[in-house]
Amino acid sequence: GMKGAIFDLDGVIVDTAKYHFLAWRSLAEKLGFEFTEAHNERLKGVSRVESLRILLEVGGIEATEEERLMMADNKNKEYVNYISQLDPSEILPGAKEYLEILRSQGVKIALGSASKNAEFILSKLNITDLFDAVIDGTKVSKAKPDPEVFLQASTALQLDPSQCVVFEDAEAGVQAGKAAGCQVVGIGSPDILKEADIVVAGLYELLAQ
Ligand code: G6P
Ligand code: MG
Repeated sequence: GMKGAIFDLDGVIVDTAKYHFLAWRSLAEKLGFEFTEAHNERLKGVSRVESLRILLEVGGIEATEEERLMMADNKNKEYVNYISQLDPSEILPGAKEYLEILRSQGVKIALGSASKNAEFILSKLNITDLFDAVIDGTKVSKAKPDPEVFLQASTALQLDPSQCVVFEDAEAGVQAGKAAGCQVVGIGSPDILKEADIVVAGLYELLAQ
């Protein structure tokens, strides 16, 4: 059975993807091109720097290292403005209940997110205490689909990756979980999350089991 559960944050516990999208789109607007929701799919689970690289590629824009830093920083300021307004009502359906059920069953719980804003978001949602370990973008150097984040998370839980189940909404995240040697529950569409062991629409689907 599952001894550890490792949760992605954005798109699994809270729908911050819409705020990432608004902030990236406004950067694209300033740069003079349109950035669509379809483009935004490619940014899910991907680190801030890598997201910017993809966005500039979409716009066909060249930028120096210094310009990139400024752009990433501006995007993050706008994003932080949005997430400063987050409250527990924005936790995705069933997510908190599922974490509580797992805890009551003695399952160890970690966060495995690429975000550098993860701790801030958890505190806004008032769920920091539900996690035994938090591995986020401030601790990880290799972005998903590299398995580093999930390897660090299982180590922090003092478990082997094979004893852990990863919950992920992004294609790159599912790949990272499989590469780490974990079981992976995809959250979203089976068409996109082909490599997951099972796919559900949301954590609420797991409550009845
Ligand atoms: C998550 C999101 C990505 C985001 C990344 C970095 O993985 O799914 O869309 O780019 O975190 O987030 P940050 O808050 O550090 O910019
Ligand atoms: Mg995600």
